[in-house]
Amino acid sequence: MKMEDKAFKKNILITGGAGFIGSHVVRLFVKKYPQYHIFNLDDLTYAGNLENIKDIEKASNYDFIKADINDADQIKELFQIHQFDSVIHLAAESHVDRSISNPKIFVETNVTGTINLMEAALETWRGNLENKLFYHISTDEVYGSLGETGLFTETTAYDPNSPYSASKAASDHFVRAYGETYNLPYVISNCSNNYGPNQFPEKLIPLFINNIIANKALPVYGDGRYTRDWLYVIDHARAIDLAFHKGKNKSTYNIGGFNEWQNIDLIKLLCEIMDKKLNRSAGESEALITFIKDRPGHDKRYAIDASKINKELGWEPSVTFEEGLMKTVEWYLQNQNWIRAVVSGSYQEYYKKQYL
Ligand code: NAD
Ligand code: DAU
Repeated sequence: MKMEDKAFKKNILITGGAGFIGSHVVRLFVKKYPQYHIFNLDDLTYAGNLENIKDIEKASNYDFIKADINDADQIKELFQIHQFDSVIHLAAESHVDRSISNPKIFVETNVTGTINLMEAALETWRGNLENKLFYHISTDEVYGSLGETGLFTETTAYDPNSPYSASKAASDHFVRAYGETYNLPYVISNCSNNYGPNQFPEKLIPLFINNIIANKALPVYGDGRYTRDWLYVIDHARAIDLAFHKGKNKSTYNIGGFNEWQNIDLIKLLCEIMDKKLNRSAGESEALITFIKDRPGHDKRYAIDASKINKELGWEPSVTFEEGLMKTVEWYLQNQNWIRAVVSGSYQEYYKKQYL
């Protein structure tokens, strides 16, 4: 039995909580804050999976709502019914390659969907913005690409290069504009590449783990000399917890792993770990590496300066890359049913179109 909504200290709407990062954020909040009522709103697109949060589905402070953030009327109705006082907004189309082949849905979900949530929040909160917060989860890709040196800071100019990053940049601008124009209380965080359990195998690390297990080619874009800054997903969820509770109104926080890797070096390390875990001879997985046509508009290098969140809120990653990668590999090896379920059906069509 759930307590009445008003018996909870906060009614928090988390969007996209059946996806990769969202599921870790939902779990952290449900377990750590029994005094909060957590509503997980997700439309269960190809990337959403209720298996990701099966362990907490019966918690007394948790409810799941299947809804589309593009349905403005339904979103308004849900705000009226449940009187959410805070939003942590993660729902999005999140994969760059899909944005290249189908950009429009990225505008709809990432831009219009975000506006729908803010409109519903303002309508419900009108006149009383105290203790209200719209927390928008964004990406470092809005800053575009770095050269050999330098880091993205909170004041780096936006310069997005893919339809995905353009849609995320537009949504960030709208959140900021709603803050300035309508006084919407907001926080935005821009995070680097996440990895860890429950990531859909379209993204580099889970795709390559899955292909190594199946002895399939490892499709490396271009020369593989592209750099990303990797962060274990649970450390991102910890940062979101801190920024949600202690972040300054109308501010932005960069979150990153202090952990830059060129793709090819990361892939070789992953191959080495997989050979050991699968009792294969050294070099067996590496032999699967296949260089293929580059991603159009491929950003050369991302690297985050996370010193603001470190100094202001005391956040730092808790897991080293070696530990995080090992935990991730082990999770995928122990959860073969999860991966088998998500690669059935429409994934096969996507894979054929993207790689074959
Ligand atoms: P994901 O693709 O794994 O999950 C997205 C979730 O949103 C899914 O559960 C999906 O069902 C849901 N969703 C999609 N469209 C929806 C709609 N119209 N209505 C309701 N729900 C919808 O994404 P992720 O990797 O977990 O990313 C979550 C957020 O974090 C995104 O906003 C993304 O831009 C941002 N981000 C991701 C990374 C990363 O490395 N993955 C890094 C920085 C920021
Ligand atoms: O930086 C944060 C972003 O990181 C998030 O906002 C995005 O949601 C998330 O998808 C991720 O974007 P990337 O494009 O960096 O991630 P992806 O895993 O797709 O690719 C990582 C790198 O690996 C990139 O340089 C492209 C390369 N790559 C990727 C795939 C899927 C390959 O070489 N081959 C592949 O098959």
